[in-house]
Order: sequence, then structure tokens, then C-alpha cells
Amino acid sequence: MKTIITNDYEDMSEKAAQIIIETVKEKPNAVLGLATGATPMGLYRRLVADHKEMGTSYKYVRTINLDEYVGLTKVNPQSYAYFMYENLFCHIDIALKNTYIENGTALDSMIECKRYDKMLNKLPRDIQLLGLGSNGHIAFNEPYTSFSSTTHIVNLAENTIKDNAIYFDNIEQVPRQAYTMGIKSIMKAKQIIILASGFKKAEIVSKLVQGNVDSALPASILHNHCNCILILDKEAASKL
Ligand code: F6R
Repeated sequence: MKTIITNDYEDMSEKAAQIIIETVKEKPNAVLGLATGATPMGLYRRLVADHKEMGTSYKYVRTINLDEYVGLTKVNPQSYAYFMYENLFCHIDIALKNTYIENGTALDSMIECKRYDKMLNKLPRDIQLLGLGSNGHIAFNEPYTSFSSTTHIVNLAENTIKDNAIYFDNIEQVPRQAYTMGIKSIMKAKQIIILASGFKKAEIVSKLVQGNVDSALPASILHNHCNCILILDKEAASKL
């Protein structure tokens, strides 16, 4: 895993945006695995600005998201489908039919997981973008998730519920379950970019960089990927 330390959140976002923009320019029908949350917002702002100013086109790009809350429809403002639409898709020329995310209100969760896995196999990702949970999760693969997991429903960890409560009126509203892409599927992407920003990620980043691969820290599996870049800002790197 290659580690890049940038000055601040804006630099981290810029660095990641450049990698994605270059990929889309070289391969106009690239498949991008995308993440939600606070970390990639600056990166998405840059993709939007670049699309508007430089004309990078997403007309043939396909996107696959990591996760979605169980029970939320795509028109619910707290859903990840809505997040993606608001922060990226509605500002660029991507065809919405080419954007994929788990259906949080699917009637049969087993069928939904199988459907998603089939799609992941059909659309190998050129890049997978990841944020880092403060407990070391990637997507919603919480500590001790099997490294061979595929799409599944997860009971969110207490600290994940607390971390995500800032996006809801109160902690009670945070869904307790989510669909998540599994770790095995994440690892199949050709390239992985994992971002971490701010002091609150410094502790987990220092554990991750130590290099032991352990399911107690799901992100540590990324050490086994042959093309993975960890991009940090100075605050997240402050305990290295
Ligand atoms: C989001 C996701 C999560 C977040 C992680 C960090 O789709 O899969 O793993 O990337 O929880 O969240 P933020 O960026 O809000 O700190």
C-alpha cells in the first residue's frame, strides 16, 4: 500500500480527483466504485468543477456504490442513493441508469445481495474509492467481518451508529442495518484509493499503516492489494 500525505483536506481531495479524472479520460467507459460520507465530498466537488470547466465526460462511465441503509428508499434524503445524486450525479452528464447501488427497500435481502454480486462480477471496477471508518471499517464491513465476504446485510457497530448520527436529527433515526459490498468484492477492483482526513482518523490510520493484516481492522486487508493508495491529510497522518 502506497501512502501519500497531503497538506490538508483540499489537497487530499485534489490528489484523489486527479487520479479519477485521468482514469475517466483514458477510459471513457471506466467503472468507478464510489463511497459516501464526509470524506469524499471534496473530491466529488472537484469532479463536478472539472466536468463543468474542462468538459470531462461521464456519459459512458458506470458507477457502483459500496453501501446503502436498510429501509431507506432512494428518495429519502438520508439514503446513500440520494447522497450520490445530490453530491455528484445530478451535476455531471452520467446516465442514471449506469449508476448502481443496493436497493435499501428490496423485499428479499438474499435476492438483493445476489443481484448485487452478479453485477459486481459483470462490471469489474477500474477504481474503488474508500473512506476509512474510525473503527477501521471499509464500506460497512465492521471489525471481524470475513475477508472472503461478498454483499451482505450488516448490523452496524455502535461507534458507526454514533459517527453517522451527525447526518440525522438524532441517534434513534440512524438505521441499525445496511447492505454492504463485501471485502472480497472490494479487493477485486483493479485499483483502490482509500482516503482519510482529520485528527479523528489519526489513531486508526497509525494502526493501519503498521501493516499487520487482521480482521479486527478490516482495512488492513488492503496491504494485500497490489495497487492501493492511501491518501491522508496531515491531521490523519499526525500519529504516524
Ligand atoms: C460510506 C462508507 C463508509 C465510510 C466511512 C467513513 O459509503 O462505506 O465506510 O467511508 O464510514 O465515513 P466518513 O467519510 O463520513 O468519515
